[in-house]
Amino acid sequence: MKKNSCYKSNKAHIRKEIRVEVRKLRNRLDEKFQTQAESDLSMNFTQHVKLPKNAAVGVYLPNDGEVRTNLLIQQLWKENHLVYLPVIHPFSGTHLLFQKYEKNSTMKENRYAILEPKLNCSEICPISQLDILLMPLVAFDDSGNRLGMGGGYYDRTLATYYEKSWSTPKLIGLAHDCQKVGELPIEAWDVPLPAILTPTKFYQWPSTHKD
Ligand SMILES: Nc1ncnc2c1ncn2[C@@H]1O[C@H](COP(=O)(O)OP(=O)(O)OP(=O)(O)O)[C@@H](O)[C@H]1O
Ligand SMILES: [Mg+2]
Repeated sequence: MKKNSCYKSNKAHIRKEIRVEVRKLRNRLDEKFQTQAESDLSMNFTQHVKLPKNAAVGVYLPNDGEVRTNLLIQQLWKENHLVYLPVIHPFSGTHLLFQKYEKNSTMKENRYAILEPKLNCSEICPISQLDILLMPLVAFDDSGNRLGMGGGYYDRTLATYYEKSWSTPKLIGLAHDCQKVGELPIEAWDVPLPAILTPTKFYQWPSTHKD
């Protein structure tokens, strides 16, 4: 029992350290690098990700040195796809909703000072109706395990998806190449990713992709 709790806290400590180190790395990327990464990510997306016509795509607005998605969003709009952004659930405060994002959407800052569309229930897309969900992450490993910022928002929101093996949305993590680590200490609730796109690579793990 004592050994277990010691292991548990050690794991939590390692996860915390990885977050600190990788966040430091990506926050050090300069403007020129970020601009190039944003453009490369967009091109890599077009090359590797095939979308149905008028696809519903969940994505995020970049924060904390994350790979920028602004160009990708412009591209999705141009191709007549529907873009959805995460909104923290107003009642639970622990899950994410996905709301339509358009050029003229009214935005407001959430509790983390991240912009999200002002809640409008008629513009919420049930998660299973998204074709693709592009997810932020702090670190990923050789097996497609994902470490987020530590809020558990994506894990909680996707828990049912993971248990029930829904076929959509297809989950794709977005990251800078420098966010890859050897092996992440994972927890039972961590939802692994079947695919990760970086500015230079497209990783896929067919065994974790529940079709
Ligand atoms: N499915 C779940 N049900 C209940 N609590 C959960 C679930 N998933 C995660 N949590 C809680 O959220 C906390 C943070 O989880 P974790 O460290 O995995 O976050 P993360 O994956 O880094 O964040 P995010 O999912 O927001 O990217 C954990 O302490 C855990 O208790
Ligand atoms: Mg997690």
